[in-house]
Amino acid sequence: MAFIRCLWAACFTSLAAATISPIDTSVPSVPGGMVVSAAPPGPFFQDLEPSFPTTGWWVGYAAAPSQDSVVAGPFPYMSRALDTGLQFGISNTRNFDGTSIIQTTQMDWEASYVQNPNSHTSHKATAWDTQSVTVKYFAASGAGFTTYLVPGSPYMTFNYDAATVLLTSKNGNILSINGKTVGTSPVSVSGTKFTITNGAGTYVAYSLGGSITLIANTTTLTGGATFTGVIRIARVTAESTSQEILDQYSATYPTGVALDYTFTGDNTTMSFTWNVVGNAANLLHLSWPHHRKHLVNPVYVTGLSYLTTKGYMKPVAGNSWKLSYALPTITWQAPRTPQASCTEQIIQALEYEIAHLTVAVPDDFYFWGKAFQATARLALVADHVGRQDLIPAVLTVLKQSFAYWTVTGQSTYAAYETAWGGVVDGAGATDPNIDFGNGYYNDHHFHYGYMLHGAAVIAKYDASWWNTNKNFVTAFARDIGNPSTADPYFTVARCKDWFAGHSWASGIANGGGSRDQESVGEAVNAYYGLILFADILGNQDIKNWARLLYATEVSGAQTYWHLYPNANDPDTPYPEAGLRSLTTIGNVMDYQAGAWLFWGAQRSEIAAIQMLPITPINEDMYDTAWLNGVWNYVSSELVDPTVGDDWKSIIYMAYGEVSPQTAFTRSTNITAWGGTTSQAYLLYHLSTRKNPGGGNICTSAAANPAGTFLIRTSTGKFVSSSAAAPQLVANSSVGAPFSFAYMPGGGSIFNTATSQYVTADPNAAVPLSAARAVAQAWENFKVVLQSDGTYVMLAGVNSQYVTIDSTGALFNNGASLAAAAKFTLVAQ
Ligand SMILES: *[C@@H]1O[C@H](CO)[C@@H](O)[C@H](O)[C@H]1NC(C)=O
Ligand SMILES: *[C@@H]1O[C@H](CO)[C@@H](O)[C@H](O)[C@H]1NC(C)=O
Ligand SMILES: *[C@@H]1O[C@H](CO)[C@@H](O)[C@H](O)[C@H]1NC(C)=O
Ligand SMILES: *[C@@H]1O[C@H](CO)[C@@H](O)[C@H](O)[C@H]1NC(C)=O
Repeated sequence: MAFIRCLWAACFTSLAAATISPIDTSVPSVPGGMVVSAAPPGPFFQDLEPSFPTTGWWVGYAAAPSQDSVVAGPFPYMSRALDTGLQFGISNTRNFDGTSIIQTTQMDWEASYVQNPNSHTSHKATAWDTQSVTVKYFAASGAGFTTYLVPGSPYMTFNYDAATVLLTSKNGNILSINGKTVGTSPVSVSGTKFTITNGAGTYVAYSLGGSITLIANTTTLTGGATFTGVIRIARVTAESTSQEILDQYSATYPTGVALDYTFTGDNTTMSFTWNVVGNAANLLHLSWPHHRKHLVNPVYVTGLSYLTTKGYMKPVAGNSWKLSYALPTITWQAPRTPQASCTEQIIQALEYEIAHLTVAVPDDFYFWGKAFQATARLALVADHVGRQDLIPAVLTVLKQSFAYWTVTGQSTYAAYETAWGGVVDGAGATDPNIDFGNGYYNDHHFHYGYMLHGAAVIAKYDASWWNTNKNFVTAFARDIGNPSTADPYFTVARCKDWFAGHSWASGIANGGGSRDQESVGEAVNAYYGLILFADILGNQDIKNWARLLYATEVSGAQTYWHLYPNANDPDTPYPEAGLRSLTTIGNVMDYQAGAWLFWGAQRSEIAAIQMLPITPINEDMYDTAWLNGVWNYVSSELVDPTVGDDWKSIIYMAYGEVSPQTAFTRSTNITAWGGTTSQAYLLYHLSTRKNPGGGNICTSAAANPAGTFLIRTSTGKFVSSSAAAPQLVANSSVGAPFSFAYMPGGGSIFNTATSQYVTADPNAAVPLSAARAVAQAWENFKVVLQSDGTYVMLAGVNSQYVTIDSTGALFNNGASLAAAAKFTLVAQ
């Protein structure tokens, strides 16, 4: 089956999902107008018009500067499209280095033809679909070959057209062909099957176009004449049955694949149907562990497998796979009402947080988006605890923050990038160091999921705001969630690798080389944002599509990011028990996966970034077996005051699926919640868990005293602090007036004479000091009544008790209650 040469991406509609109409097809409406990438695609797309995929496994074939990166497939192979030919190989090594499993990329063979002009413009894409890409190498004479790069095929397939086959070893010398040793003088072999060995091991090559002659020397296999027909090449594995199976299925080859899906209530069946040449029932295609969890009635073929970073790929016969997924049913709110034991504390925190909201001014998409979504969730919490009166104040802040994106002339702005086709951080189109590479198409799903989520919340409560802002928001939904090739402005589901079963975060930076995804929780959140957006649109098709994007990402997270130390699963992607004991993969890449991050090494960081943002829809993603493993693994960090509460709060929230009571108790030490949650939201989340053990989730916290007091020590001195000497020193008979008030996680202490909040140094190197205009984590104290009527103070920042040194200065350095200074509060 030959592809029709097309000038427009829309020509390929029939190859992609055709069941869902585009979200929109009009010119994206963003105030930043049009910008052009400083790294436009190379001649790979010479006959085609944008929009182009930017994030899929093969973008390195197209990305600047030289379109020659090693790319993430088509697995089990990795490959490079060079001017001289298409190189491919399978790693011979798999090492566990204590942190990661690494399968170093290697190229084993290069497929080409003798007449290849070897110029930069003599190969190009002729078609692609949601999984595969078709690449043509061509000469002016018409000679050349076409290769269908289809993930999951154990064979590389090269369709030659009036060209002389040229296969070059890229892994040591060619050692033998069909059992004949290849040495100094060339060996000529004719036939339709060739077994060849080089430094990589054994490959087998098939001619589907009749007998051919190959002349082998130590570097190349060269055709004896020009040839028109298909050559297939496959790696023979160590299994004794491997070659026999490859022989048996060699005649049927895939040229592309159609993605489709049907929805039945809250279930979906996703289908991959490969276009094949040959007998469709005899297509041999490899599955990964996540496929095998979802395949419906697969016809497995045993005796051939390939070990990849995602575990063993194993063959399935037939050109049509059906994969069944349960879809999420949760939308805006948790599916249970907040438990009464928690509501008073939720509302207290909520009132405080809403009163202290600030308008986030966009400096990027990422951090702004996190703040936007976290703020938006407060409106939903207020709604669910019956405090609708608090919602307008949240919406006011959200709208002011969002409005920055809709006016022209801002230094941070959204623009439509025309070389690849997508909405980007405008300044980033020429600078990959802006906004985590957003302008180079990195992290779009992370960034835009947060925005979609927050915007949907505003829209839920304000239809007129939605009418005004719908077009702008829709551009972002199309950017990460376009379902259809009929939208000319955006590639389909930009970040999703449908065969790999999850998204990639990497775009076109670094030559579009190796793929990674470091925070799968944020990827899941992207598709949650799209679900909420679709709910606002009232478009059930788009909502189902978003639910499919969500469900596949969650399955990917559980299969490839969540590790199960005690798992006895023979189909685990990670047979290395040492890796699994690390409980969480930090970064899934194409050639390695490991418990590490680009930015942090703490166990709680590695786990929390795969969980956040915590949302009610994810309750089944945070599965108990994984959470229990994580809980044990991070336990020492959870009681370590030097580990950030930002991360602990996330882990406690997720652990609420196992025991919301334990999560609640442990979270009472938290004074910082990071960018994606807050005390009100944490309490709301815990209060709405399944609560497997039953019983009250929250217990009433001992509140700090409230009011204005002088602080007196047991020796009768009063604590002073002045504008000139803000440090707290118990040396006076007068003392400064301090106002004690609630704040989430404890309370603040405010010098009313100087209008400054008391702050504590995390290292306790300097005394407490009334020196902050606003109260945040370092200004958070627990003031605890003792049985003798005195109080002790505990600094939230380092969980240390306040002591008094010989000069009378107050330090937060008491490790135990016994070391704590006792104070009497004298009401003013
Ligand atoms: C192998 O044959 C090719 C094609 O004739 C030639 O270019 C190459 O130099 C030969 N290599 C060796 C080591 O003889
Ligand atoms: C959805 O799938 C579940 C689990 O396979 C099954 O029990 C249920 O009947 C399905 N529902 C529908 C509507 O197909
Ligand atoms: C709070 O922190 C202190 C000091 O790290 C610790 O001793 C205490 O057990 C913690 N309380 C809870 C409830 O986690
Ligand atoms: C108490 O200590 C502060 C800070 O050292 C100092 O400024 C103040 O004069 C002292 N007051 C008395 C009464 O000694």
